[in-house]
Amino acid sequence: MAKSKQEQLDKIREKILKDNVSPELASTATQLVFGDGNPDADVVFVGEAPGKNEDLKGLPFVGAAGKFLDEMLAHIGLSRKDIYITNIVKYRPPENRDPLPEEKAEFLPYLQAQLEVIAPKLVVTLGRHSMDSLLPGLQISKCHGQPKRYQGQVYMPLFHPAAALYSGGMRATLLDDFAKIPRVLATI
Ligand code: URA
Repeated sequence: MAKSKQEQLDKIREKILKDNVSPELASTATQLVFGDGNPDADVVFVGEAPGKNEDLKGLPFVGAAGKFLDEMLAHIGLSRKDIYITNIVKYRPPENRDPLPEEKAEFLPYLQAQLEVIAPKLVVTLGRHSMDSLLPGLQISKCHGQPKRYQGQVYMPLFHPAAALYSGGMRATLLDDFAKIPRVLATI
């Protein structure tokens, strides 16, 4: 019998561990933060890397940035059970430093495999790290909130919700960009 999407995702998770991806990050992290949500979702959100709370819980976006993300989802009538969420890098970088280019490159094939299984209508990148990995060569300040079709997949680059925690202007921009998601989905 054909494997369910969840079973296929579980296999990708196992493969990351078996392939010993990013052993240095793995050695300082508590655990792998693979992804969470609905494997049949129309929208997948891709963040940067787990932070402290995510590392402890094993789930993406469960800290302050995640709370703001939940608020923005509620604004457009969605909740976590409607979407799937993951990160480009799946272990917490020490002291929450930016992920290194080689760390992003190592994890990219596994992210692509996740996206192939879920086959969402829309992939929303959160922040420049996941955008750089999936949509090379763009500048987030110029392209945020605009859907882009690339290699057969529709993407929408957004600023990272953590950037909005300390900036009212950024918060308004993100809320505006988020509000476009239902319209974009309806046109795909
Ligand atoms: N920031 C991210 O990019 N990802 C998380 O999972 C949490 C915070």
